[in-house]
Amino acid sequence: MPLAHDFVNELKDKIDLYDLVSPYVQLKKSGSSWVGLSPFSQEKTPSFYVHPDKGFFKCFSSGEKGDAITFVQKMENLSFIEAIEFLSDRFNIPMRFEEGSSSTPRAKSINSELYALHETVADWFSNNLRIEGEESRVALDYWTKERRFSMETAQEFKIGYAPVDRFALAKFLRKKNVPPEILEKSGLFNKNLQQGEFVSRFCGRLIIPIREKIGRVCGFTARKLSLTPEWGDKKAPKYVNSPETNIFKKGELLFNHDLANKEIDEKSDFLLVEGQLDAIRCWAEGFKTVVAPQGTAFGDIQANLLRKSNPRGVTCLLDGDSAGQKAAFEYIPILFKAGLGSRFSTLPEGSDPDQILLDQGTSGLQELLDQGISSIEYAFRYKLQDIENPTPSDRKKISEFIFKSLSGVDSFVEREDHLQELSKVLSVSIENVKRDFKQFSQNQRPFTAGRDRARSTQEASSSRSVQLTTAEDDLLFVLLHDDRVASPLAHIFDPSWLDLEIPSGRVLAKILAETKADGPVTPNRMEEFIDDDDERTAFQNHLYQDVKEIDEESFLQLANECLHALFIRSSKQKERSLLKHLSNPDNAPENTQNLRQELIQLRKSISAPPPTDLFP
Ligand code: UTP
Ligand code: MN
Repeated sequence: MPLAHDFVNELKDKIDLYDLVSPYVQLKKSGSSWVGLSPFSQEKTPSFYVHPDKGFFKCFSSGEKGDAITFVQKMENLSFIEAIEFLSDRFNIPMRFEEGSSSTPRAKSINSELYALHETVADWFSNNLRIEGEESRVALDYWTKERRFSMETAQEFKIGYAPVDRFALAKFLRKKNVPPEILEKSGLFNKNLQQGEFVSRFCGRLIIPIREKIGRVCGFTARKLSLTPEWGDKKAPKYVNSPETNIFKKGELLFNHDLANKEIDEKSDFLLVEGQLDAIRCWAEGFKTVVAPQGTAFGDIQANLLRKSNPRGVTCLLDGDSAGQKAAFEYIPILFKAGLGSRFSTLPEGSDPDQILLDQGTSGLQELLDQGISSIEYAFRYKLQDIENPTPSDRKKISEFIFKSLSGVDSFVEREDHLQELSKVLSVSIENVKRDFKQFSQNQRPFTAGRDRARSTQEASSSRSVQLTTAEDDLLFVLLHDDRVASPLAHIFDPSWLDLEIPSGRVLAKILAETKADGPVTPNRMEEFIDDDDERTAFQNHLYQDVKEIDEESFLQLANECLHALFIRSSKQKERSLLKHLSNPDNAPENTQNLRQELIQLRKSISAPPPTDLFP
């Protein structure tokens, strides 16, 4: 069912690009625009510009540019129509369809159905915590009495309760007519049905919804309670989590990231803790930049997510036990590589941030944070703590661990900072540390050299493809940036000159046909002629291309050159095709005669082209 022809423009007019982009990218004001770290590349200096008044964004490091729709397509990996649907949902602008077309709503994409389902289910869990009943009282008591959390916090995080009855969720959802394939993909149920019914993964547990970066519920973690059924002869685990699904990718999200993102700035650190309940406690006690991975797994993607919010750095608050220390050593190279300054604070063994805040209040936790040490100092302190008389070789091993972690750091400045820190911790001159690092890197060379080579060829090929433009591209560009061009062009132009295999050729053909019939069209109306993503990309790339100043002469000259090139190209094509026909031995004599005449005419017009100059 086709969208109403002007709906796309309505949507774009109503959406403030700042509102759309800001949950993904930390933006700072820059004149009438906003600037932040590109969400499309791993840059460290902001070069991603958002122009809400003009409705487009541009990223100077990756070359990506476009409007609200393109942005969502890229960020959420959506097709054009899915992006429209996403924006219509997110900003509450109902989709309008062409009149007379049937009114059945189009099928939603799987991901948007999954998000909607998670929202519905989170509401249901949360209602279950509040209804009168034996079970919910146990859950509520656990939350308020045993854990000493407030109801206000329960509301903020939409804490819920999953009933013991393993069919209850499926029964509730049956009334909502959710397609079974969505239920299967949701991760909310066990793989195998029982008595033909979906079996809930979460039974008799306190439910903590997990939201992704922009605040959509994408999964759950569920804590055991006194009434949680055991798993046959096995003890049920303390926590049951959503499995990996289309929308729940453990390694790509952090608990509380959406709320922490609203609080973070370049003067503050993210606070990285291990458990979701620890994160909730920290948040409730005013440590609002807290985030938690799912368990201790913390990888490059999560580090880069944090990096993109442009914080001062990350403070890791880890358990003092051996698992916590092991985690710390895995975090160091990851944090280095992401360019995140990091500090480590260690908790007393067996304690956690939740416990500290309950026992000692915010000042207790703050004190621990103030005692944080650099990752390099941490590495030495904890690797050496069990060794009575560390030898130079013990220290060398740790230096090598740091050197190895540094091989992932691209920035010379950051590398230098880390080496300075290392020299301080080792009480060795910076020159000596650098010499050791150089030697270490040389021994590692075969690996890094290969990687650098791969990277430089990749860069070369991507910059080459940017520079290739066709006459269609150039003409579309001029037409979009110089008002004088469209009308005269439409009248002298022969559409058969265009290559319709090229997206900009198709866009150009449509714009010129419309201009010829109806007079000049605005870029907004041009949008309506666009039929697919390739055409949209071509159109927007030219529309949002930076034009510093319109140089009137050279614009017209470029237009004339394009026209001429297109005319010659199409004439040559016609010539080739005539020659091919002429070489056909089965031609009737009068047919051959006609073809010869045509060829003569054509060659005449090539040597003396018709007036293709717009402004001679
Ligand atoms: P902990 O066992 O340290 O629990 O697990 P915790 O957060 O202190 O839990 P409470 O305070 O007893 O409720 C730390 C984190 O490891 C993951 C969870 O994310 C948990 O928050 N975990 C732990 C699981 O995923 N499954 C488990 O069975 C246990
Ligand atoms: Mn705990």
